[in-house]
Amino acid sequence: MEITLVRGDITQMKVDAIVNAANCTLLGGGGVDGAIHRAAGRRLLEECKALGGCKTGEAKITQGYRLPATWVIHTPGPRWGGGSHGEPQLLENSYRNSLILAEEKKCRTIAFPSISTGVYHFPLDLAAPIAIRTVRDFPARFIETVFFVCFDKKTFQAYSSALNASR
Ligand code: APR
Repeated sequence: MEITLVRGDITQMKVDAIVNAANCTLLGGGGVDGAIHRAAGRRLLEECKALGGCKTGEAKITQGYRLPATWVIHTPGPRWGGGSHGEPQLLENSYRNSLILAEEKKCRTIAFPSISTGVYHFPLDLAAPIAIRTVRDFPARFIETVFFVCFDKKTFQAYSSALNASR
């Protein structure tokens, strides 16, 4: 499985699945959640309403509607609370449970945003290595390429360092 870093907007990614850094209501929000809902259109929210929310670290899948991606995998990452409330494990769970759902749909390509490092304030230099390691260690059968779509320069640099350190 190949890991590729991209600078840009995840809503433009032509991949089998994009991952949404959601909140537990799954009813949309700001940041990447807001961007994905705006790009997908109202039917995404309709489908999300029927899902009945999602626990932190777990993941649920919907269609992509007007997005170029076929699927959207919604996962609420942990809010940073200082690091002693299981945040690292919950972040790892968000990545792993998203990959599991992508495999169930036999996705070959999947794109992640930097989960929890925006509004949820998970420190970037801790989150990036967790994200890279969890993806690297995942026993993929169908997924060939995992993209990390970094919205800004500092995020791209953090993921570049984490990726290089993991090699
Ligand atoms: N494409 C890719 N990445 C994006 C995009 C986009 N269009 N928009 C924002 N991002 C980046 C942010 O810059 C940050 O690096 O996604 C990363 C995650 O930030 P947030 O979207 O704030 O997500 P998170 O920190 O997980 O907080 C989730 O924010 O938007 C609400 O409803 C959401 O309550 C939930 C919370």
